[in-house]
Amino acid sequence: MRVLIRCLTIAAAAGVLASGSSVAADIEAGRQLAMHGAGEGSLPCMSCHGPDGAGNAAAGFPRIAGMEADYLLRQLHAYREGTRGGPIMKPIVANLSESDFENVAAYYASLKAPDIAAPTPDPALLAEGEWLAVNGNWDNEIPPCVSCHGPGGRGVGAEFPAIAGQHASYISAQLKAWQNGERQNDPQNLMKVVAERMSEREIEATAAYFAAQRPTAE
Ligand code: HEC
Ligand code: HEC
Repeated sequence: MRVLIRCLTIAAAAGVLASGSSVAADIEAGRQLAMHGAGEGSLPCMSCHGPDGAGNAAAGFPRIAGMEADYLLRQLHAYREGTRGGPIMKPIVANLSESDFENVAAYYASLKAPDIAAPTPDPALLAEGEWLAVNGNWDNEIPPCVSCHGPGGRGVGAEFPAIAGQHASYISAQLKAWQNGERQNDPQNLMKVVAERMSEREIEATAAYFAAQRPTAE
């Protein structure tokens, strides 16, 4: 709890908690964009993220349904600005306007977080992932993931995204993207310092653990 409060204090100090879109987003326009794309040659979001926004584990396309609108919006900006790699998303966001961003983020945020069918991981790996998620690894100064990502990894506001019910392939790819510098958009390098200290095995274990958690509380 102390770590969580510290995280939130850091986030508040960085001004990131004061986001909150001022413009009223048009969810129906966002749905049109998600389903049909932004005109000729533009791929609809659903062609990769799925008709329900559940993503695709094998392809590494993330689940985006049910995530906070301001988090999604920040990621779209990060792809456009290049602070986040992702060669597939870059040309997609290049075609979109600011109001497209807001509408499509509001649309995906309005959907229910789907339960993904995570493969049942090896129990030893799952137990290691749970230990790190809940207790951290203080020998290596890795704080518990849930101290920032909330109980069960279900997210805290728009700053600490839900990682429960996210695909393991995507979670591990993001942790590696922080390690190799492709993703640099996190406020105050909060996530970079965590990822940098993780071993390959710790990445695999936490990814398996969070993929197996339900995205919403019972
Ligand atoms: C051709 C496949 C493809 C299409 C089409 C596509 N995406 Fe993506 N999307 C991806 C991939 C792959 C990633 C992960 C990239 C990375 O490594 O950062 C991603 C990541 C994202 C993320 C970051 C999610 C997170 O949890 O941080 C958002 C937000 C997103 N996409 C929104 C959209 C929206 C909105 C559209 C439609 C306008 C769209 N995507 C269309 C493949 C696609
Ligand atoms: C000190 C706070 C903090 C801790 C501890 C933390 N995270 Fe994060 N994490 C963040 C923040 C902040 C973001 C969002 C970064 C951004 O805005 O792009 C994030 C994002 C992520 C993402 C990307 C989610 C997405 O949708 O793209 C993954 C995966 C992730 N964290 C996994 C973990 C794991 C696994 C652990 C534990 C080993 C962990 N985090 C511990 C703060 C933290």
